Amino acid sequence: MSTNQAEQGVFITLEGVDGSGKSTKGRMLGEELTAKGREVVLLRDPGSTAISERIREILLDPEVENMSSECELMLFEAARAQLTRELIIPALERGAVVVCDRYCDSTFAYQAVGRGLDEELVRTANAIGSCGLTPDRTIVFDLEIDESFERATRHGTDRMELSGESFQARVREGFLRIAAEEPQRVRVVNSHGEKIEVYARMREELKDLIPELSEELA
Ligand code: TYD
Repeated sequence: MSTNQAEQGVFITLEGVDGSGKSTKGRMLGEELTAKGREVVLLRDPGSTAISERIREILLDPEVENMSSECELMLFEAARAQLTRELIIPALERGAVVVCDRYCDSTFAYQAVGRGLDEELVRTANAIGSCGLTPDRTIVFDLEIDESFERATRHGTDRMELSGESFQARVREGFLRIAAEEPQRVRVVNSHGEKIEVYARMREELKDLIPELSEELA
């Protein structure tokens, strides 16, 4: 089932390895579009609802040990299903631009390519967690792992980051594979350079969906 047909809004997801700089660019987009009069809903997955934030705490707590990959997969999907039903679908129905920091592509990159869970199983789980919703556009912020990992772990290390650099390298390959497989939906943005340069690159990839971005950046 796809609920996209019934929607007026635009659903954008931001993806990339830990420390790739996606959250800052999401906030910048939110500021620009809000100033131009669009309703923007900034969300993070896992998180953003009371239930999903509690699940997020379990998922990221470095003191939680021995979590099986299957348990991890289903907790991510549970958090996402709540986020999708409670916030994403209603916002899209109101005509908002929804900008979500991570979504199903993270599950494919981290749990299938990173952890090694069966890809078809992960796709099926994603169909449940997303309630059948697909982003209109996904931006993958791409950066070499030595740089992104240093940025991500500068202020502490969460449970996912404890999996180390070779895990992050597989995750990066996972995102690049998704982008190669779905070039219309998924766009890779080089995350090197100044924030404003990276932001301008991202904006280019969204212009066709959001008319407010057609003016040049001031
Ligand atoms: P988050 O703080 O959102 O990431 P970042 O460090 O980029 O700011 O943390 C979420 C972590 O969970 C991150 O390591 C990616 C991971 N994750 C998965 O493994 N699977 C998923 O489906 C999602 C949404 C995230």
